[in-house]
Amino acid sequence: MKGIILAGGTGSRLMPITRVTNKHLLPVYNKPMIYYPLQTLIDAGIKDILIISGRPHAGAFVNILGSGKEFGVRLSYEIQDEAMGIAHALGLAEDFVDDKKLCVILGDNIFEDKLDISDFHEGARIFLKEVKNAKRFGVATVDSNNKVIEIEEKPKEPKTNLAVTGLYLYDNKVFEIIRNLKPSHRGELEITDVNNAYIKLGKMDAKILDGYWSDAGTFESLYKASTLVREKHI
Ligand code: G1P
Repeated sequence: MKGIILAGGTGSRLMPITRVTNKHLLPVYNKPMIYYPLQTLIDAGIKDILIISGRPHAGAFVNILGSGKEFGVRLSYEIQDEAMGIAHALGLAEDFVDDKKLCVILGDNIFEDKLDISDFHEGARIFLKEVKNAKRFGVATVDSNNKVIEIEEKPKEPKTNLAVTGLYLYDNKVFEIIRNLKPSHRGELEITDVNNAYIKLGKMDAKILDGYWSDAGTFESLYKASTLVREKHI
């Protein structure tokens, strides 16, 4: 399985500090943000990882992470010229992934759990976490067997409190799905539309996370993530 860290976007919710550097290089307690998703992939046993970032500050990722030698993995880099959404960025990974499966993680997501992905074979899998304020996330509706029925992106009135975390497993068909996506009302290709396409095909399953999870893309969540990393020694 190949790993992909999506570290693009403009970081608009963290202005003005994201004028200075890329969001994913900001500190979460004592490490640059991207170290955490990188460690999550490494702990899952993934050895070949692509980092996709936007053009500004792209060189800083290479400076900080290099070839991956010090982490015992192989790192490659890809540039997303314009911020056209998470699914658009993922589409740039097609050549890198070749005919393999992929584990995709958003560069601002911090997970306490170590993942077991050895039982994933085809289709797609998402990881859900119960949260208090689901409005800010993709929100999943599941049936009594935890089968996902629907995901709504940032709904005004969430039907559940199950947030879709920024960790996704896909088979190789994801690239065909991305090619057929239409931009959302904000002009981006949305990862939620990719996931809903898998749900329609009946090929999506979900796991609920036990451990702590946070994104770190707003001032409040960045602060919370730093505090939790400090307390839990992640
Ligand atoms: C993205 C996804 C959303 C998901 C979240 C997790 O939102 O679109 O479905 O719940 O990441 O961090 P964003 O942070 O880009 O607003």
